[in-house]
Amino acid sequence: MQFGFFDDIHREYIIQRPDTPLPWINYLGSQSYFGIISNTAGGYSFYQDARLRRLTRYRYNNVPLDMVGRYIYRRDNQNGAFWSPSWQPTCTNLQEYSCRHGLGYTIIASTFQGIRNQTRYFVPLNQNIEIWEVEIENQRDQRADISIFSSIEFALWDAMDDAANFQRNFSTGQVEVNVGKAGEPDVIYHKTEYRERRDHFAFFACSEPVTGFDTQRESFLGPYRSWANPVVVSEGSSLNSIAYGWAPIGSHHVKVSLAPGEKQKIIFLLGYHENPRDDKFDPPESQTINKRNLLPTIRRFLKKDQVEASFEELKNYWDDILGILQVETPDPHTNRMVNIWNAYQCMITFNMSRSASFYESGIGRGLGFRDSTQDLLGFVQMAPERARQRLLDLAATQLDTGGAYHQYQPLTKRGNNNVGSNFNDDPLWLVLATSAYLKETGDWGILDELAPYDNQPGTETPLFDHLQRSLQYTLDRLGPHQLPLIGRADWNDCLNLNTFSTEPGESFQTTTNMDGKVAESVFIGGLFVLASHEMAQLCQSLGKNELAQTYMDHAKQMTKTVMQEGWDGSWFLRAYDHYGDKIGSKTCEEGKIFIEPQGICIMAGLGLSDGKAIQALDEVNKRLATPHGIVLQQPAFSRYYLNLGEISSYPPGYKENASIFCHTNPWIMIAETMVGHNDLAMDYYQRINPSCREQISEMHRCEPYVYPQMIAGRDAPTHGEAKNSWLTGTAAWNFVAITQWILGIRPTLDGLRISPAIPTNWDGFSATRHYQGIKYNISVKRAGKGSQVSIKIDGVPLKGEVLPYSFVEKNEVNVEVILS
Ligand code: GLC
Ligand code: GLC
Repeated sequence: MQFGFFDDIHREYIIQRPDTPLPWINYLGSQSYFGIISNTAGGYSFYQDARLRRLTRYRYNNVPLDMVGRYIYRRDNQNGAFWSPSWQPTCTNLQEYSCRHGLGYTIIASTFQGIRNQTRYFVPLNQNIEIWEVEIENQRDQRADISIFSSIEFALWDAMDDAANFQRNFSTGQVEVNVGKAGEPDVIYHKTEYRERRDHFAFFACSEPVTGFDTQRESFLGPYRSWANPVVVSEGSSLNSIAYGWAPIGSHHVKVSLAPGEKQKIIFLLGYHENPRDDKFDPPESQTINKRNLLPTIRRFLKKDQVEASFEELKNYWDDILGILQVETPDPHTNRMVNIWNAYQCMITFNMSRSASFYESGIGRGLGFRDSTQDLLGFVQMAPERARQRLLDLAATQLDTGGAYHQYQPLTKRGNNNVGSNFNDDPLWLVLATSAYLKETGDWGILDELAPYDNQPGTETPLFDHLQRSLQYTLDRLGPHQLPLIGRADWNDCLNLNTFSTEPGESFQTTTNMDGKVAESVFIGGLFVLASHEMAQLCQSLGKNELAQTYMDHAKQMTKTVMQEGWDGSWFLRAYDHYGDKIGSKTCEEGKIFIEPQGICIMAGLGLSDGKAIQALDEVNKRLATPHGIVLQQPAFSRYYLNLGEISSYPPGYKENASIFCHTNPWIMIAETMVGHNDLAMDYYQRINPSCREQISEMHRCEPYVYPQMIAGRDAPTHGEAKNSWLTGTAAWNFVAITQWILGIRPTLDGLRISPAIPTNWDGFSATRHYQGIKYNISVKRAGKGSQVSIKIDGVPLKGEVLPYSFVEKNEVNVEVILS
């Protein structure tokens, strides 16, 4: 069953009924100002940091999940009926409801009793405002008198404090209201704490003269009412309430009178503004916000033609970004995910990391080190300058040991002390991310950029040294088998081998009851080999041949160790625990085989020459693959294991305990392409591709246009049900798997490589790729069943599979690829 459909031409997903199994959301904003918006206009907004600069409120674990939101009520003043054109919160029966989620915008439309409404929500590029452009149309054959009530609930900035500290917060709220002044726009300002240490405030403006307004939530809603039936809306008149403490909101009341067939547009602006500290008030000795710098912006964006122009700009921005890679394959699901949605999701995960969705509360984690470095793999081609900055910001949170803060706050760019460090895989991802950046851009200068350790001035070294320390960090922490010590966890945050927690509520990740000198990770071993190879290649390109050799030697040594100590006979072991016992072995009762080491070790080249890789992949296929994707391990842990930690805290089939943890599936896809199993790689790709799962939306439940973090595994009663959509490393890794390995368009340090590993039943595909200033028009044709590649560039045969940089003066070339 479907709840909507893809409109690939307009790059939209169109939801046709509001009662989706879960809120199906979209993101607004692209640089600093962001918002989440659901298909019924629920969600919240923030400036840069979902925790520290929250503009509008969210009530955690609310029912429904997406309350409150950007609700704009309508009231028919002739009969008193009122409704929400976005369905929530009144949940009135609407005709012709649709929600179009597009790239950076959402349009919700519906009709009720002959009144059609459409609202377009978006954030203009480089602005800290969101636009709600309302269009109302009278389709009746009589005049209609309609009241429109906007509404927003302001959060008191620090979202964590906002959600908990009522003894103070009910007495801090302050607003300023500027309505009815000739020649000035009608604006509600939210300025809680502006009187003291905050230099920022929020504003909510309206393009039309208002009849009234409200800024106190309890006045607007009335006692014992809710957002479903505010007293102001049901009575049809605002109370002009001024919040002084309690809960500041913004609501404008606009009256329209429409002749039959008449339409009207009304624009609301919600935004954020900062003033210089010494110029906060106007006049200076007053407590009135200085609005001089802001008012021109408000005036500008309240104009209809400016709104249209900004929307066009946003569309062009996405056209340019998506234009970097466009493919035309025989599979429509591949096309729409690669060309539109997977790329879009990569941009969102880059912006949000794991901070704000309906599964990440925005008050929890900031930007993860491991998460952001991997997100970059899917994002780097879309905005290399931003990727560059991100790499340097991440490097600056590295510690001088080479270790890394596990997370940092985007607003302060400081590492989070409460989570700390010692996730021993973290630093290695920095090497992979930097190398991906260099392959895409050729910007070798980044390696000379100085970055401090733990943000301490005076500790700066070139980025290249940071990478060296990342690798050294592993070498300094080898265990009894000479495999890397795992620390608090490796990629699998829930494999906590030194925790041994018996206290309810204790953090599995930051509690360490064991000294950490025994438990080792085979996964980190594989990751180390992969990162060492990358580093060796970088060194070679820089002419540092001796150093390159050193890293090759390290890789060789670790490969040997993993093959000796980490091979279990038919697959790679997962780890050794605190007692030195095997995890992920045929000798284990539960958790005999894990997906992660099979993926990462084979990607690092282990087992490719002696058939072991194929053997391990066959076991993955036999033991872990389900129709809904590949599960993380089997058999699932049926009880809590003190020596394993959080992984065994989940009921079987969920999360790290044997769900289809989607992030890991592309590693297997890539590994399958490396051993020549193209058909199986594609098959795995399609099992978790959300577009392929659209028809089972009632079972999948999450959005069909983005990847979820997990799909319930075969041990769960809800096998096939997705959870934690949007903010997941799955986005970047699937993008890498499909574009670089299955379609085989892969940036390298020497140029663009074309090595397709497409299914045998595809007769080819075409693609355009912009890469280092050149547009490549690629056409791949199958002449035989294999993956043997022969290439012609503008008709001239090429030796090998890497397109060299030396197309003197050409900015567009045709690449013909024959597979045989
Ligand atoms: C979550 C985390 C990620 C971790 C994964 C596996 O997705 O964000 O960092 O690798 O879980 O535990
Ligand atoms: C939980 C989750 C895991 C996530 C971690 C982040 O352990 O299961 O996926 O990475 O929290 O702190």
